[in-house]
Amino acid sequence: MVEINSVLQEGRKFPPPTAFAAAARLGDPAEYERLYRRSLDEPEAFWAEVAAELHWFEPWQAVREWSHPHVRWFVGGRTNLAYNCLDRHLTAGRRTKAALIWEGEPGETRTLTYLELHREVCRFANVLKSHGISAGDRVAIYMGMVPELAVAVLACARIGATHSVIFGGFSPNAIVDRVNDAQAKVVVTCDGGWRRGRIVPLKDNVDEALERCPTVAHVFVLKRTQQHVHMKEGRDHWWSDSMDQVSHDCPAEPLDAEHPLYILYTSGTTGKPKGVVHTTGGYMVGTYLTTKYVFDLREDDVYWCTADVGWVTGHSYVLYGPLANGATVLMYEGAPNHPDVDRFWAMIDRWQVSVFYTAPTAIRAFVRWGEEHPKKHDLSSLRLLGTVGEPINPEAWMWYRRVIGGDRCPIVDTWWQTETGAIMISPLPGVTPTTPGSATKPFFGVDADVVRRDGTSCGPDEGGFLVLKQPWPSMLRTVWGDDERYRQQYWSQIPPFYFAGDGARRDADGNFWIMGRIDDVINVAGHRLGTMEIESALVSHPAVAEAAVVPRPDELKGSGIVAFVTLEGGRRPTDGLVDELRDHVSKEIGAIARPDQIRFTDALPKTRSGKIMRRLLADVAANRELRGDTTTLEDLSVLQQLREADEG
Ligand code: PRX
Repeated sequence: MVEINSVLQEGRKFPPPTAFAAAARLGDPAEYERLYRRSLDEPEAFWAEVAAELHWFEPWQAVREWSHPHVRWFVGGRTNLAYNCLDRHLTAGRRTKAALIWEGEPGETRTLTYLELHREVCRFANVLKSHGISAGDRVAIYMGMVPELAVAVLACARIGATHSVIFGGFSPNAIVDRVNDAQAKVVVTCDGGWRRGRIVPLKDNVDEALERCPTVAHVFVLKRTQQHVHMKEGRDHWWSDSMDQVSHDCPAEPLDAEHPLYILYTSGTTGKPKGVVHTTGGYMVGTYLTTKYVFDLREDDVYWCTADVGWVTGHSYVLYGPLANGATVLMYEGAPNHPDVDRFWAMIDRWQVSVFYTAPTAIRAFVRWGEEHPKKHDLSSLRLLGTVGEPINPEAWMWYRRVIGGDRCPIVDTWWQTETGAIMISPLPGVTPTTPGSATKPFFGVDADVVRRDGTSCGPDEGGFLVLKQPWPSMLRTVWGDDERYRQQYWSQIPPFYFAGDGARRDADGNFWIMGRIDDVINVAGHRLGTMEIESALVSHPAVAEAAVVPRPDELKGSGIVAFVTLEGGRRPTDGLVDELRDHVSKEIGAIARPDQIRFTDALPKTRSGKIMRRLLADVAANRELRGDTTTLEDLSVLQQLREADEG
């Protein structure tokens, strides 16, 4: 791990607007302080009270059992997350309330009330059951952002089938890895999805993948884009035919609180993506409470999180958290610039969205597209804005506040990860003063700190490692099939704390400033990619002998991807080969992993023990002065060569 230097200085402060605070769920700083203290001093009592707001078929015997690094929450309790997202609201006055408002990219719309969503979920749960799926089986879901994606996810939760949602932008190879690792029995997909006016061939990708996935017995295919797709006799079933054959009566399965709800694959420093495992009870309670307080949800809000359900943000804050709170969720299928760059603002205006949650990379694109586009629309329904996925640069934050929030809406910059399941550090909009670029304070029950390598706390503004010192309800429980990796990756780097790769500092007011990944993970447009994965993809091309992948600053995406490549003897660098390698990575992983630049070199800088010095390469890629120590470099002339290396 490298030394961490903090350079950002930011002094602007924005207290919660008085009118907002007066109406907020939490508007009194003293009350917040009391709750926060209690959540740390008496976590079991605190979380038991929260859990009691939800439905349990059977009560728990113990709130928490912590045996480092494994935790169980609500031990012995039985519940069902789909029940809490749906059935609970049917008797609580929300039967005819809109649960999902959906807009397709071509422009059609659909609204499902809680009652309607409940029915669809029950039916698809029955479809799964009638094909032999029961609690504990794994179901892979590879769909676009359509209402049936929500239906499929909740149907799994209803019967206890562990879902693994695979982002619709991933390639067939990425499907193979994920389906095989989880040994999924079923894949749910669509014929295609709409993206920027074009069809993403989801079913074709599944067909290609399944040639290498022996565990899959059934594929359910929703018709969305209507082009011809191949249907394999006996294996493939149309969604609508299957739904016609079952009833909408399907009681929710009372599941153990620690029953595995889902697996979501995320990039790490080594090897293939790891399957982060979330369980039922703790995850439910964590996403429920964070949604309630961070987004200050009210009965009449129209809530819109723009994330894809293929990522954790879509799991926790498009589906589970808001639905557990009985919210009206807006869901959008397509791209922000289709048919034009004002699509989001037109939608906020059309649906009177009040809470809007998006990513810094999107905000930077909006800034570039120009403020005349949001200005064409009435955004006065908005009352709260959020961001997630990467550090937000203060200027983008200020633009978001002024142009989208009309200088009126608080902004919640929420720090969390696939592994944390729910928001960990964020302002609470009625009580926390905000500063552009800071995620501010830990959420209830989150014991966060910035520490040195030896685990001692850093002083104010001293850069260090962001750790969590106490287990929290929505934390990952293990890595699917690889508990050793779970121990190593998260709990052994700065023992005994949880550490998942971010550098940070805390200022004199106790606000956290996240400085980004310090491990071999690149955050591209808010999405995590392991350098190792991209390197393996490159090396799988016959022309490539060795590859090293590093980030370089990118105005829009936060980080771009630069690959340094050495070729097999006899191969010569050409423009054609650059394109071929970039396409090859897209094909192996997905378009988000496509390198922005390929640089050919005769050799890579290595330590005497043979480890590639990516830190040096990152400096070269960013055209920075070389920082830090080069004394362990085996062959200094390599550096000179790199600087002169061909640019692709
Ligand atoms: O580096 C942090 C960054 O995104 C990483 C987690 O990525 P992922 O698991 O894909 O989840 C993204 C959505 C929760 C973190 O380790 N990150 C996320 N939110 C922020 C952030 N960095 C700075 N500020 C944030 N608000």
